[in-house]
Amino acid sequence: MKVKNICCIGAGYVGSPTMAVVAKQCPYIKITIVDINESRIAAWNSTDLNKLPVFEPGLDGIVKEVRGRNLFFSTNVDKAIDEADMIFISVNTPTKTYGKGKGMAADLKYIELCARQIAKVAKQDKIVVEKSTLPVRTASAIKSILDNTGNGVQFQILSNPEFLAEGTAVQDLLKPDRVLIGGDTSSKEGELAMKALVDIYANWISKERILTTNVWSSELSKLTANAFLAQRVSSINAMSEICEKTGADVKEVSKAIGMDSRIGPKFLNASVGFGGSCFQKDILNLVYIAKSYGLNEVADYWEQVILMNEHQKNRFSDNIVSTLYNTVSGKKITFLGWAFKKDTNDTRESAAIKVADNLLNEQAQVSVYDPKVPEERIYTDLDYLNTRSSDENKSLLTINNDPYKACKDSHAIAILTEWDEFKNYDWKSIYKNMQKPAFVFDGRGLLNKEELKEIGFIYYNIGTGN
Ligand code: UDX
Ligand code: ADP
Repeated sequence: MKVKNICCIGAGYVGSPTMAVVAKQCPYIKITIVDINESRIAAWNSTDLNKLPVFEPGLDGIVKEVRGRNLFFSTNVDKAIDEADMIFISVNTPTKTYGKGKGMAADLKYIELCARQIAKVAKQDKIVVEKSTLPVRTASAIKSILDNTGNGVQFQILSNPEFLAEGTAVQDLLKPDRVLIGGDTSSKEGELAMKALVDIYANWISKERILTTNVWSSELSKLTANAFLAQRVSSINAMSEICEKTGADVKEVSKAIGMDSRIGPKFLNASVGFGGSCFQKDILNLVYIAKSYGLNEVADYWEQVILMNEHQKNRFSDNIVSTLYNTVSGKKITFLGWAFKKDTNDTRESAAIKVADNLLNEQAQVSVYDPKVPEERIYTDLDYLNTRSSDENKSLLTINNDPYKACKDSHAIAILTEWDEFKNYDWKSIYKNMQKPAFVFDGRGLLNKEELKEIGFIYYNIGTGN
């Protein structure tokens, strides 16, 4: 079977970049990305490429090339489902905020709604692909809904988790380490469905990098990959605290251990804490799954990764308060960066949110500059915590789109995101315009310590003594 028409439900950070790259590499496939969020679809259709809802290096160029050729954005979900041979589900699966599993389990209501809609609309056989990260065995729930509420047509469910990282999504999609496709390996129809998806990726990825497994292994591999990556960050962050006490330098330690080929050099940068939509959500989900099978030791083991991350964020804000003579009340503290990492406008679970909230509790006046995150997003992130009223958040936290103005008259600067541009600022002039003593708290180990000290800053870096 050769797929000619794809529908992708969900025009978010995963669905849209993925489908844009598939459209680029497979001009013979018509792809329609649908979403219930009208303003998001309108933004994807915007002629001004700066207005696309997701910022990813290289994505605007690809959208320009394929949009209107074989990639379309629409709110007509039924039509796109009806026309497609293959449907990708790329909707959000946030952590549940209510009921059983609150704060831990993945909320599958959006997935279920999609399955019901597909079942209602489909008049021919379809291959349904889980792209969103899901708890292991979700495919059986989707299959059950499709088979029980459908029009008697056949559905094959595949799991094809996305491993792209934000900020490098386009490169990750063009040159993935591997593509993972899980399906029903026990039936001929299952094998054929897997082959149909393998054939799409094989247009630009060598066959050795396309793995096929049973569906449960595929679902669980995605959670496992994220848990391992997050664990590395928490492990090095744990060492960063020991470094600060002992005089060791965490960068030197990372380098030394990373040269061991069994450990490898990636994901060993100590930081103010990991963020992003996946790590915390997926580990909580893993913890929930483990608990639901009575595997309490397994659950406790993975939960520590999250607890360490919370500690790292709190430790960062505590250090700012104690260093500024135990009070930040009324003091201006400037945040450079709000996104959860560089080269993205995504702020989900960003460490900046928690650090800001802690400092606002201490009545600091926080001033924020981020090159890509819009003002409304920052206030929405804070308001979502419900710590104080929206008006209070607005009066305590200001946003500036000029970094020099954001830093003017502040007592301290905190680096929350590792945007490259911060390295090239005129730090002498920033220093001149700040209150003295002028502090920098570098939550990303981004700036040149010696240079800043030479200028006169008191510089604090995660994982090195002063
Ligand atoms: C992650 C996975 O990498 C990706 O495979 C999966 O599909 C989705 O989740 P993403 O959340 O986009 O991707 O970003 P990632 O690069 O993994 O970084 C996550 C967080 O960890 C960021 O806040 C980043 O700053 C932090 N991090 C990463 C560190 O603090 N130190 C490191 O060494 C690496
Ligand atoms: P991710 O990072 O996983 O891509 P996002 O939140 O960025 O998550 O995107 C998910 C998108 O899925 C959102 O734009 C949301 O409006 C969309 N969505 C959720 N449920 C449905 C649905 N039933 N039909 C169509 N789109 C949906």
